[in-house]
Amino acid sequence: MQCNALHEAGYDIVVYDNLSNSSHEAINRVSMLIGQPVEFIKGDIRDAESLKKIFSAHHFFGVIHFAGLKAVGESVAKPLLYYNNNVSGTITLLEVMKEHSVKNLVFSSSATVYGDPESLPIDESSKRSCTNPYGQRKLTVEHILEDLAVSDDSWNLIALRYFNPVGAHPSGEIGEDPNDIPNNLMSYIFQVAVGKLDKLIIFGNDCPTVDGTGVRDFIHVTDLAQGHVAALNYLDKQASLNEDSMTQNSVGFLPINLGTGKGTSVLELVSAFLDVSGQAIPYQFTDRRAGDIASRYASADKAKTLLGWQAELLITDMCQDTWRWQSMNPNGYNVS
Ligand code: UD1
Repeated sequence: MQCNALHEAGYDIVVYDNLSNSSHEAINRVSMLIGQPVEFIKGDIRDAESLKKIFSAHHFFGVIHFAGLKAVGESVAKPLLYYNNNVSGTITLLEVMKEHSVKNLVFSSSATVYGDPESLPIDESSKRSCTNPYGQRKLTVEHILEDLAVSDDSWNLIALRYFNPVGAHPSGEIGEDPNDIPNNLMSYIFQVAVGKLDKLIIFGNDCPTVDGTGVRDFIHVTDLAQGHVAALNYLDKQASLNEDSMTQNSVGFLPINLGTGKGTSVLELVSAFLDVSGQAIPYQFTDRRAGDIASRYASADKAKTLLGWQAELLITDMCQDTWRWQSMNPNGYNVS
């Protein structure tokens, strides 16, 4: 998804991934969609020597850093893995970037850094606190980036705080195919739709929300990808301004929410899914999930003002595109 958006925006890209939660087939499909092979290198961000080779072979403008593990349950069971991959890996990447004077970074952060928000919508100055190791490590990386920006004003570090990404490429060729058991709401809805599960278990109908069920800010992955392009464009513009005026105004550490600014409840999502797929989703209420927050949605003003970006796609698009991807690829990227 991201490769397509960057290619369309005119960027040349190199993809570096250890494929721990992806596959070559995804890269093949991206190449097919953009009409030329994507330069792909299999490697790990903790492997400094491998990174150095790539940075020596290319003249990069910047890095979009997605290389993080993201399962909350796994982060509780294997906290060291999350320190190692998500934190140490980021430090290694930053060290290699520094060595090669590449100082522009867009980091995948998460709305999880806000924990249980004190007020809604959540803007970027809201208090940050997390209760699980996955979220805490996102926050650790944000702290590292903040410290780095203070220590050296030539860094330009944008942390994009994603709200709840869903959807797939509109072609139906690219979508989410995790190795582990998916456990977010949209994947459960899909599993019920195709009969893998009897019913959706809804965690609570007594939340202080529009219908008692949890409210989230779902954002289409296409919009999310465009948000990264807008962030890179912003860094590019900043670099050009500095070049023209011979000044050195750095971006420093800049956190930006990527959300729609609109909350949708669990029941509203179930209803939208029925509208686009024709599949009714039987459900049953149970107790609220431990640690779940009732409602979370973004203030998306900063992204609009600074980056000129705003989400365009609707809940129906998110359901439609997820449904198309899942229907065309019942076994994900496993095409054999
Ligand atoms: C999850 C992650 C969080 C991550 C965020 C965005 C967990 C515990 N949290 O949170 O770290 O930053 O996604 O990607 O995994 N729901 C049901 N039944 C289900 C599944 C979910 O009712 O079977 C409800 C939940 O109670 C919640 C809403 O659906 O109200 C969304 O849940 P989910 O998709 O897990 O996202 P988050 O809770 O936002």
